[in-house]
Amino acid sequence: MINVLKSYNELSSTVADIVETQIKEHPLSKLALPTGSTPLGMYDELVNRKLDWKSVITFNLDVYLMNINLPQSYQSYMRKNLFDRTNIYPDNSHFPFRPFSGFEDKIEGSKGIDLCILGIGTNGHIAFNEPGSSFKTRTRVVNLSEQTIKDNSRFFDSIEDVPTQAITMGLGTIMESKKIILIASGDHKLNILNVAMNGEVTKTVPASILQRHKDIEIYYCD
Ligand code: F6R
Repeated sequence: MINVLKSYNELSSTVADIVETQIKEHPLSKLALPTGSTPLGMYDELVNRKLDWKSVITFNLDVYLMNINLPQSYQSYMRKNLFDRTNIYPDNSHFPFRPFSGFEDKIEGSKGIDLCILGIGTNGHIAFNEPGSSFKTRTRVVNLSEQTIKDNSRFFDSIEDVPTQAITMGLGTIMESKKIILIASGDHKLNILNVAMNGEVTKTVPASILQRHKDIEIYYCD
Protein backbone atom coordinates (compact mmCIF):
# COMPACT_ATOMS: atom_id res chain seq x y z
CA MET A 1 0.00 0.00 0.00
CA ILE A 2 1.23 3.48 -0.85
CA ASN A 3 0.97 5.93 2.08
CA VAL A 4 0.17 9.33 0.62
CA LEU A 5 1.41 12.23 2.75
CA LYS A 6 0.31 15.84 2.56
CA SER A 7 3.63 17.52 1.94
CA TYR A 8 7.34 16.97 1.38
CA ASN A 9 7.95 18.13 4.97
CA GLU A 10 5.62 15.43 6.25
CA LEU A 11 7.31 12.82 4.06
CA SER A 12 10.73 13.87 5.39
CA SER A 13 9.70 13.87 9.04
CA THR A 14 7.79 10.58 8.77
CA VAL A 15 10.79 8.78 7.35
CA ALA A 16 13.14 10.52 9.79
CA ASP A 17 10.88 9.20 12.60
CA ILE A 18 11.39 5.66 11.32
CA VAL A 19 15.17 6.09 11.15
CA GLU A 20 15.25 7.74 14.58
CA THR A 21 13.28 4.90 16.17
CA GLN A 22 15.56 2.35 14.51
CA ILE A 23 18.73 4.06 15.78
CA LYS A 24 17.40 4.67 19.30
CA GLU A 25 16.08 1.14 19.76
CA HIS A 26 19.09 -0.46 18.09
CA PRO A 27 22.18 1.78 18.39
CA LEU A 28 24.23 -0.77 16.41
CA SER A 29 21.89 -0.55 13.41
CA LYS A 30 23.03 -1.13 9.87
CA LEU A 31 21.37 1.27 7.41
CA ALA A 32 21.37 1.32 3.60
CA LEU A 33 21.08 4.91 2.37
CA PRO A 34 20.14 6.67 -0.87
CA THR A 35 21.21 9.95 -2.42
CA GLY A 36 19.30 12.17 -4.88
CA SER A 37 16.69 14.87 -4.28
CA THR A 38 14.08 12.89 -2.40
CA PRO A 39 16.00 12.12 0.83
CA LEU A 40 17.42 15.64 1.30
CA GLY A 41 14.61 16.67 3.68
CA MET A 42 14.95 13.44 5.64
CA TYR A 43 18.69 14.04 6.11
CA ASP A 44 18.01 17.61 7.30
CA GLU A 45 15.45 16.31 9.79
CA LEU A 46 17.84 13.66 11.06
CA VAL A 47 20.66 16.17 11.49
CA ASN A 48 18.38 18.58 13.38
CA ARG A 49 17.38 15.82 15.80
CA LYS A 50 21.02 15.45 16.95
CA LEU A 51 20.90 11.67 17.17
CA ASP A 52 23.79 9.56 18.36
CA TRP A 53 25.31 7.93 15.27
CA LYS A 54 28.51 6.66 16.89
CA SER A 55 27.59 2.97 16.67
CA VAL A 56 25.56 3.14 13.46
CA ILE A 57 26.96 1.52 10.33
CA THR A 58 25.87 2.79 6.91
CA PHE A 59 26.10 1.35 3.42
CA ASN A 60 25.32 3.61 0.51
CA LEU A 61 23.25 2.03 -2.22
CA ASP A 62 25.30 3.24 -5.12
CA VAL A 63 28.07 5.51 -6.39
CA TYR A 64 28.85 7.01 -9.78
CA LEU A 65 32.09 5.95 -11.39
CA MET A 66 33.65 9.41 -11.26
CA ASN A 67 36.13 11.56 -9.38
CA ILE A 68 34.84 11.20 -5.82
CA ASN A 69 36.15 14.64 -4.84
CA LEU A 70 33.76 16.47 -7.18
CA PRO A 71 30.59 17.89 -5.55
CA GLN A 72 28.30 15.65 -7.64
CA SER A 73 29.82 12.41 -6.34
CA TYR A 74 27.65 10.50 -3.90
CA GLN A 75 30.57 10.50 -1.47
CA SER A 76 30.52 14.33 -1.48
CA TYR A 77 26.71 14.33 -1.20
CA MET A 78 26.75 12.12 1.90
CA ARG A 79 29.50 14.14 3.57
CA LYS A 80 27.65 17.38 2.93
CA ASN A 81 24.14 16.22 3.84
CA LEU A 82 24.75 13.77 6.67
CA PHE A 83 28.19 12.55 7.63
CA ASP A 84 29.88 15.91 8.30
CA ARG A 85 26.85 17.00 10.34
CA THR A 86 26.65 14.00 12.71
CA ASN A 87 29.01 12.04 14.95
CA ILE A 88 29.09 9.01 12.64
CA TYR A 89 32.55 7.37 12.51
CA PRO A 90 34.05 7.66 9.02
CA ASP A 91 35.14 4.01 9.28
CA ASN A 92 31.49 3.01 9.76
CA SER A 93 30.19 4.60 6.56
CA HIS A 94 30.69 2.46 3.49
CA PHE A 95 30.26 3.07 -0.20
CA PRO A 96 30.22 0.22 -2.71
CA PHE A 97 33.85 -0.69 -3.40
CA ARG A 98 35.95 -3.24 -5.24
CA PRO A 99 36.22 -6.13 -4.84
CA PHE A 100 32.42 -6.24 -4.77
CA SER A 101 32.58 -9.50 -2.84
CA GLY A 102 34.40 -7.53 -0.10
CA PHE A 103 31.57 -5.00 0.06
CA GLU A 104 28.96 -7.77 0.14
CA ASP A 105 30.98 -9.56 2.85
CA LYS A 106 31.03 -6.38 4.91
CA ILE A 107 27.23 -6.22 4.76
CA GLU A 108 26.92 -9.94 5.55
CA GLY A 109 29.61 -9.76 8.23
CA SER A 110 27.63 -7.10 10.04
CA LYS A 111 24.64 -9.49 9.89
CA GLY A 112 22.89 -7.71 7.04
CA ILE A 113 21.05 -4.44 6.64
CA ASP A 114 18.41 -3.67 9.26
CA LEU A 115 16.78 -0.75 7.49
CA CYS A 116 17.10 0.16 3.82
CA ILE A 117 15.80 3.53 2.58
CA LEU A 118 15.19 3.64 -1.17
CA GLY A 119 14.21 6.24 -3.75
CA ILE A 120 12.80 5.26 -7.14
CA GLY A 121 13.84 6.42 -10.61
CA THR A 122 11.24 7.51 -13.18
CA ASN A 123 12.10 4.31 -15.08
CA GLY A 124 11.49 2.13 -11.99
CA HIS A 125 15.12 1.71 -10.96
CA ILE A 126 16.02 1.23 -7.30
CA ALA A 127 19.59 2.08 -6.38
CA PHE A 128 21.05 1.94 -9.92
CA ASN A 129 19.43 -1.36 -10.86
CA GLU A 130 18.10 -0.30 -14.23
CA PRO A 131 15.25 -1.97 -16.16
CA GLY A 132 16.27 -5.48 -17.22
CA SER A 133 18.34 -6.16 -14.06
CA SER A 134 17.98 -9.68 -12.72
CA PHE A 135 16.25 -9.95 -9.36
CA LYS A 136 19.26 -11.96 -8.11
CA THR A 137 21.90 -9.31 -8.83
CA ARG A 138 24.58 -8.41 -6.28
CA THR A 139 26.89 -5.38 -6.10
CA ARG A 140 28.38 -4.69 -9.53
CA VAL A 141 29.22 -2.08 -12.18
CA VAL A 142 26.26 -1.02 -14.31
CA ASN A 143 25.69 1.20 -17.33
CA LEU A 144 23.19 3.94 -16.56
CA SER A 145 20.15 4.10 -18.81
CA GLU A 146 19.52 7.07 -21.07
CA GLN A 147 16.54 8.02 -18.90
CA THR A 148 18.63 8.05 -15.71
CA ILE A 149 21.37 10.11 -17.37
CA LYS A 150 18.74 12.58 -18.56
CA ASP A 151 16.98 12.72 -15.17
CA ASN A 152 20.24 13.22 -13.28
CA SER A 153 21.67 15.81 -15.68
CA ARG A 154 20.01 18.45 -13.46
CA PHE A 155 22.85 17.97 -10.98
CA PHE A 156 25.57 18.60 -13.61
CA ASP A 157 26.55 21.53 -15.84
CA SER A 158 25.66 19.56 -18.96
CA ILE A 159 24.33 16.11 -19.84
CA GLU A 160 27.77 15.19 -21.21
CA ASP A 161 29.17 15.51 -17.69
CA VAL A 162 26.83 12.87 -16.22
CA PRO A 163 28.74 9.63 -15.55
CA THR A 164 27.55 6.76 -17.71
CA GLN A 165 28.47 4.05 -15.23
CA ALA A 166 27.96 3.38 -11.54
CA ILE A 167 28.48 0.74 -8.89
CA THR A 168 25.23 -0.36 -7.30
CA MET A 169 24.04 -2.79 -4.69
CA GLY A 170 22.09 -5.52 -6.46
CA LEU A 171 18.41 -6.28 -6.19
CA GLY A 172 19.31 -9.52 -4.41
CA THR A 173 21.40 -7.56 -1.90
CA ILE A 174 18.64 -5.00 -1.29
CA MET A 175 15.93 -7.64 -0.90
CA GLU A 176 17.89 -9.25 1.96
CA SER A 177 17.39 -6.08 4.07
CA LYS A 178 15.21 -6.78 7.08
CA LYS A 179 13.05 -3.70 6.53
CA ILE A 180 12.66 -1.44 3.48
CA ILE A 181 11.19 2.07 3.18
CA LEU A 182 10.59 3.43 -0.33
CA ILE A 183 10.13 7.18 -0.70
CA ALA A 184 8.98 9.18 -3.71
CA SER A 185 8.06 12.82 -4.13
CA GLY A 186 6.39 14.58 -7.04
CA ASP A 187 3.71 13.91 -9.68
CA HIS A 188 6.34 12.60 -12.07
CA LYS A 189 6.90 9.60 -9.76
CA LEU A 190 3.25 8.65 -9.23
CA ASN A 191 2.78 6.58 -12.36
CA ILE A 192 5.93 4.48 -11.94
CA LEU A 193 5.16 4.00 -8.26
CA ASN A 194 1.73 2.60 -9.11
CA VAL A 195 3.11 0.38 -11.85
CA ALA A 196 5.86 -0.92 -9.53
CA MET A 197 3.62 -1.57 -6.54
CA ASN A 198 0.37 -2.64 -8.18
CA GLY A 199 1.46 -4.03 -11.55
CA GLU A 200 3.20 -7.22 -12.64
CA VAL A 201 6.46 -8.20 -10.93
CA THR A 202 8.83 -7.90 -13.87
CA LYS A 203 12.49 -7.17 -14.60
CA THR A 204 11.29 -4.31 -16.80
CA VAL A 205 10.30 -2.49 -13.60
CA PRO A 206 13.06 -3.31 -11.07
CA ALA A 207 11.16 -1.78 -8.12
CA SER A 208 8.32 -4.28 -8.68
CA ILE A 209 10.41 -6.94 -6.88
CA LEU A 210 9.68 -4.98 -3.69
CA GLN A 211 6.14 -6.41 -3.78
CA ARG A 212 7.75 -9.67 -2.61
CA HIS A 213 9.43 -8.13 0.45
CA LYS A 214 7.62 -8.94 3.67
CA ASP A 215 8.43 -5.71 5.53
CA ILE A 216 8.13 -2.77 3.19
CA GLU A 217 6.51 0.64 3.65
CA ILE A 218 6.00 3.15 0.85
CA TYR A 219 5.63 6.90 1.35
CA TYR A 220 4.64 9.36 -1.38
CA CYS A 221 3.84 13.06 -1.55
CA ASP A 222 3.04 15.09 -4.67
C1 F6R B 1 20.48 7.20 -5.50
C2 F6R B 1 19.56 6.10 -5.81
C3 F6R B 1 18.55 6.31 -6.91
C4 F6R B 1 17.58 7.43 -6.55
C5 F6R B 1 16.55 7.64 -7.66
C6 F6R B 1 15.61 8.80 -7.35
O1 F6R B 1 21.36 6.82 -4.48
O2 F6R B 1 19.64 5.06 -5.23
O3 F6R B 1 17.83 5.13 -7.12
O4 F6R B 1 16.95 7.14 -5.34
O5 F6R B 1 17.20 7.87 -8.87
O6 F6R B 1 16.35 9.97 -7.31
P1 F6R B 1 15.70 11.36 -6.89
O7 F6R B 1 15.36 11.26 -5.45
O8 F6R B 1 16.76 12.38 -7.15
O9 F6R B 1 14.49 11.52 -7.74
